[in-house]
Amino acid sequence: MSKQPIGIFDSGVGGTSIWKELNLLLPLENTIYLADSKNAPYGEKTKEEIVSLSKKNIDFLISKNCKLIVVACNTATTNAIKVLRETYNIPIIGIEPAIKPAALQTKTNVIGILATKGTLSSELFHRATDLFANKIKVVEQVGEGLVQLIESGKLNSEEIKALLKIYLKPMIEANIDYLVLGCTHYPYLIPQLLELLPEHIKIIDSGKAVALQTKAVLEQHLLLNTSHNKPELMFYSNRETYVLSSLLEETYQIDYLDF
Ligand code: DGL
Repeated sequence: MSKQPIGIFDSGVGGTSIWKELNLLLPLENTIYLADSKNAPYGEKTKEEIVSLSKKNIDFLISKNCKLIVVACNTATTNAIKVLRETYNIPIIGIEPAIKPAALQTKTNVIGILATKGTLSSELFHRATDLFANKIKVVEQVGEGLVQLIESGKLNSEEIKALLKIYLKPMIEANIDYLVLGCTHYPYLIPQLLELLPEHIKIIDSGKAVALQTKAVLEQHLLLNTSHNKPELMFYSNRETYVLSSLLEETYQIDYLDF
């Protein structure tokens, strides 16, 4: 049982930022990463579409014998996690913007969040903000266009830099001291963000928390892989695979999936 892989999916390549944290914390685990890049961005889709795409991804991962699913996408988590947990009887871990730690640590009482339209308009996000950030100001910004540019391999482009400049301006003016990255594609923007943000503003994301939660749930269900064989790390994508491979630090085989 425990040798079964962990299944991870995202609307595209961004969830690899989560896969890296998982692989770092749980290096013995076999993993299968699925990039549904053909359907990115999820952030512009309806809740129903996001639920249906998420189910299709999970069906594929379950067909590959996965023991646990990590939804490495804030948009899919905030729009679909409840239905997904009701539908499947294996553990499902989600990712949500790190509003709580940012709200607890802010000194200026103003935090910024950069996320997709789908995440920022979700009920789950509103509930988290009402619960954890009701005494502070939250400057919300949709990162329109960022996922598309990253998916097309334009991570280090002037276009991305120009968009980030526009998106950060109101946050900097509002005196944020924490910037929450509410999309798993965005940790790849950290070098550009550091160039644009004043030094005192800290960037926070949920990658490590997701890895820790995954470990805890595996332990709880007695599903940790204790075998010391070299783990099998598999990647699937339904678009050209060069962007995905450019984000992985080592060379892995990526299989094209026609779905
Ligand atoms: N990585 C996804 C997320 O965390 C991107 C969503 C999208 O495809 O718009 O929200």
